[in-house]
Amino acid sequence: MSVLKHTRPADGVVATVNGAPLALEGAPGRRLSAALRGAGLTDVKVGCDAGDCGACTVLVDGAPRCACLMSTAQAEGRTIETLSGLSASGETAALADAFLARGAAQCGICTPGMMVAATAALRAGPPDDDAIETALAGVLCRCTGYQPIVDAVRDVVRGRHDPAPDDEGHVGASIVRLDGPKKCDGRERFGDDVAPAGALHMRIIRSPHPHAAFALEGLKAFAAARGLVALTAEDVPGENRFGVIPAFADQPVFAQSVARFPGEAVAALVGPADAIAALTDVPVRFEALPAATAPHEATAEGAPILHPGRPGNVMCRGRVSCGNADAALADAAVTATGRFTTPFVEHAPIEPEAGYARRTGDRLEIFAATQAPHMDREAVAAILGLADDAVRIVPTACGGGFGTKLDLSVQPYLALGTWVTGQPVRLAYTRKESMQATTKRHPADITATVGAAADGTLTAMTFSGTFDTGAYASWGPTVATRVPVHASGPYRVPHYTATSAAIHTHNPPSGAFRGFGVPQSAIAQEVLFEDLARALGIDGLTFRLKNALRNGDTTVCGQTFPSGVGIAACLEALRPHFDSARRVTEGTVRRGVGVAAGWYGCGNTSMPNPSTMRAIARPDGKIVLHQGATDIGQGANTVITQIFATALGVPATAVTLVGPDTDETPDAGKTSASRQTFVSGNAARLAGEALRAELLRLGNAGPDATIRVPALTIVDGAREQTLALTAPVEVSRTYDPPTEPLDENGQGAPYAVFGYAAHMAEVAVDMALGTVRVTRMTAAHDVGRAINPTLVEGQVTGGIAQGLGMALMEEYIPGRTENLHDYLIPTIGDMPPVKTLIIEEPDPHGPYGAKGLGEHVLIPTAPAILNAIRDATGARLTAVPATPDRVLAAIKAQS
Ligand code: FES
Repeated sequence: MSVLKHTRPADGVVATVNGAPLALEGAPGRRLSAALRGAGLTDVKVGCDAGDCGACTVLVDGAPRCACLMSTAQAEGRTIETLSGLSASGETAALADAFLARGAAQCGICTPGMMVAATAALRAGPPDDDAIETALAGVLCRCTGYQPIVDAVRDVVRGRHDPAPDDEGHVGASIVRLDGPKKCDGRERFGDDVAPAGALHMRIIRSPHPHAAFALEGLKAFAAARGLVALTAEDVPGENRFGVIPAFADQPVFAQSVARFPGEAVAALVGPADAIAALTDVPVRFEALPAATAPHEATAEGAPILHPGRPGNVMCRGRVSCGNADAALADAAVTATGRFTTPFVEHAPIEPEAGYARRTGDRLEIFAATQAPHMDREAVAAILGLADDAVRIVPTACGGGFGTKLDLSVQPYLALGTWVTGQPVRLAYTRKESMQATTKRHPADITATVGAAADGTLTAMTFSGTFDTGAYASWGPTVATRVPVHASGPYRVPHYTATSAAIHTHNPPSGAFRGFGVPQSAIAQEVLFEDLARALGIDGLTFRLKNALRNGDTTVCGQTFPSGVGIAACLEALRPHFDSARRVTEGTVRRGVGVAAGWYGCGNTSMPNPSTMRAIARPDGKIVLHQGATDIGQGANTVITQIFATALGVPATAVTLVGPDTDETPDAGKTSASRQTFVSGNAARLAGEALRAELLRLGNAGPDATIRVPALTIVDGAREQTLALTAPVEVSRTYDPPTEPLDENGQGAPYAVFGYAAHMAEVAVDMALGTVRVTRMTAAHDVGRAINPTLVEGQVTGGIAQGLGMALMEEYIPGRTENLHDYLIPTIGDMPPVKTLIIEEPDPHGPYGAKGLGEHVLIPTAPAILNAIRDATGARLTAVPATPDRVLAAIKAQS
């Protein structure tokens, strides 16, 4: 590689790296991961700098090691191999093929570590299944649920090669992801991989307290004395305020005099890397103020008010009501009621937020991972006081998002630092910063009551949810609106009242996290439905099937879908698995089975939600799709191309993609709310159909003609004509789902399409220890049409992993769990086998019938696990995570 240096610096050490001597620069104590990355080996990823995530795994004298836990001095004379050096070797090349075939690289940030660890295992001899899991156990993946990765390694051991699927790559074909190869050989470039050499570094100064006054006197002089530039609120040339929902925008880039959550930015220092690295204490004085760190404290008399104009710290409320729930509950044959609590949950993408910015004349360009490039552009332009088109956002590969990268993180700081200094600036959050300063899943405190007739027919439900939305609005209004719409679950509930409130506290802002509050409400609803089923002596699956929405039924919002309602099909698909599952209700280790269902409206709630795609046929015969939907690992690049290619009638591999870039691609909207396959997929379908019509018109051909690439030959029966284009043929098409506003009772048409899911959990519970092991998950998902079944399965296994984490182990406590050893996410050893059942009930609005999937995949998981624990032990859990102490307490309470 050109970056290798063959001379040994006076104070440096030399190792053999990827087959050649490399002088590792920097102090002897510098982390090996940093030295390797500094030498250009950006395939060595950094996720935690603490040996927790394994993303930086390299081979040292053949053995896998976390490069972040080794110093450069320890590397002296050693042989080091990274993915980019290994990728041409036999084992690793075979692994790459298998990873691609199995969809084992989603976002791809863990992939180098996984493949390096797997290579070591393969070199040691054919590993059995236990050895594979042991070899990979030190590497965390937040996307896949590990099953595709284990399957891929197993395929290499067994020499299995799947035949290539449908080479047209049209809708329904499990083609390998189009952006997959570079994820599997180390070439993929994430937020911290793109900055030019010599870019300035940045350190953000953050509040250590939930609520604090602070003074910055002397900071500018302190910075100047060290050759640095200090940035504070007074340096913001535009609005010192941002937020994803304009009417609620309330978060400052830098707090002014008062900080409202632990980790809030109050200032930043910019300068050369060594000067930033040398910083220790900075002259910023904080004075802790009384804080309200829970909704009940924030709404108490005399509580500090976080935002004038939001009395009682109530940010917003939501409501859906139909029928007369109180009267129907009074008449019910059986009722169940309960209070349920859920904590902050951290997204924990393996890639911390990172990027760089540069100034090009009067324009600013930001290269960073994001889920919402056009929203970022508008927000950054407002902060800098520039026109929108003076800012360009170029998303890098995104190493996991799950909702947290919908909000601005590093972008405002990069923008300001670059604008003020005129030089490129880079910034990568540490793991602690990432966990402190970015959004979380809303903690919920829910009280609900449900009722049913003696024959098991649901009659009524009341629901009241309080959500801790933290210091700033972020997506809190979306959660408050979405939850009452979804809290019934996918069931007929004729009498229903659901309310929600989002309350400000001195906690980190709660935002979007796979489900926007619905996973929390599903826990309450599905545990209470289990209560009803038990009280009526009906098994949980039969009870749910009896009450599941069907085509033509009316939802709690008064919406009726004549077709495409697939929840009953999902539940029916679980039946044989439910009937044959093993139950053990005696002894120390008990086994039980639990079921839960979920639904999720795809796209924005009752709001415009457009996506635009542009397609071009060039005179050289190239078909180019400008698609701006960010692929955060879920597969948008591939799925949207498959839809477009199907509509146009050419192979997917014939399409050249121009990826998200606000200068190059029209606005496809944000990657959230399970909308890209549905909304951007429809825009791609329309663009494909329009381009096809135009090409056939130019070829004077009928609608059934064939388009052959690369020469753009139109074949219409016996007639063939190669188009001689003298100019590009360009089309642009927009799709916006048909929705209607909700009235004051939440009645209307909030979504054009819902997706449906039903999960079955099997668990083993140790009655003495309270430990829970999930032994198997069976997941039925109605996706309308599986555009790419392998990618569907990958979403399901990954979503279940996050749902399992929410059920059993994940709880973010501000100030206490700000790393990946105190905050636990599922490892390979926590994951059970997952059986995915794909249900296809086509939706008339979906592209080729397809519905969204991204959020649906974890909504039923946690309640299914809680219901399985109850089946095994009788213990009714009303709080997650179901840690051993909580499980033991619940066992004791029921006995
Ligand atoms: Fe493993 Fe994203 S693919 S963390």
